[in-house]
Amino acid sequence: MMKNKKIAIIGCGNLGESVLNGLISNANFTNSNITATRRNLAPLDHLKDTGIVLTSDNVKAIQESEIIILGLKPFNILPMLKDLKSHINADKHIVVSLATAISIEDIQANINPGVSVFRAMPNTAADVGMSMTCICSNTDDKEKNLLIQQCFDAIGVSISIDEKLMDSATVLGACGIAYVLRFMRAMTEGGVQIGFDAQTACNIAKQTVKGAAELLIGNNQHPEVEIDKVTTPKGCTIAGLNEMEHNGLSSSVIKGIVTSFEQIKK
Ligand SMILES: NC(=O)c1ccc[n+]([C@@H]2O[C@H](COP(=O)([O-])OP(=O)(O)OC[C@H]3O[C@@H](n4cnc5c(N)ncnc54)[C@H](OP(=O)(O)O)[C@@H]3O)[C@@H](O)[C@H]2O)c1
Repeated sequence: MMKNKKIAIIGCGNLGESVLNGLISNANFTNSNITATRRNLAPLDHLKDTGIVLTSDNVKAIQESEIIILGLKPFNILPMLKDLKSHINADKHIVVSLATAISIEDIQANINPGVSVFRAMPNTAADVGMSMTCICSNTDDKEKNLLIQQCFDAIGVSISIDEKLMDSATVLGACGIAYVLRFMRAMTEGGVQIGFDAQTACNIAKQTVKGAAELLIGNNQHPEVEIDKVTTPKGCTIAGLNEMEHNGLSSSVIKGIVTSFEQIKK
């Protein structure tokens, strides 16, 4: 189904390129059917030999595509759609916005009536085919919903959510990458203090975090169930964990999540 689909990524920056890399690595997509745009193409030079069409011409990219993925900054999305309005048609195009806090209603108000609009919130793990993507749309069309779901399943895992949870999805899924990476940095620094060189400590942190995630996914468990398995009474794990909690580990993570959420609302 995806092999013949023509996709344009308009505004191929950090997130757009992560999505693009995920699509390139997936055999279900044809590179020459994917167009990536930005004004300064130099950062995409390394993709020249992949077959991906690289251009600064947004109109041409849209005319030659069916799925239009908008990777622009939120403040750019609506003015850009206004400019491109006459080139986006309900019978040909599906618009997918990756922008934080720009509603489907706002997008619809700036394009022709009847165009199917999706919002997708992937994260930068799309780069390695491991994104968590939350999706919502203004259409009940099963085929279109399946198409967009397949598009984002190709770069990780996707779920369909209510649009009112899209800001929450941004925080937990997209900002979440940074929270976890900061935790991993702290683990690495702790590892150095107890004797490992930085590279070895980082490698241990990486595989341990990956293993913890796989454990929860594979066993379909709540984290505390797996924690109980490694906390021997009076042992070193529970002593360290409780020390972290006395210093506010869970509380600071929850407060950080809520602060990010409130920041989006501003
Ligand atoms: N980063 C994340 O983890 C993340 C996660 C979820 C959602 N988001 C959302 O994803 C969107 C992009 O974020 P980002 O971090 O990827 O931003 P970014 O790196 O700044 O990417 C935006 C891109 O748009 C391009 N652009 C600007 N004007 C353009 C135009 N007229 N025509 C074509 N391209 C144009 C810019 O390149 P030029 O200047 O070369 O044109 C830039 O590469 C945002 O709306 C954000 O809310 C980001």
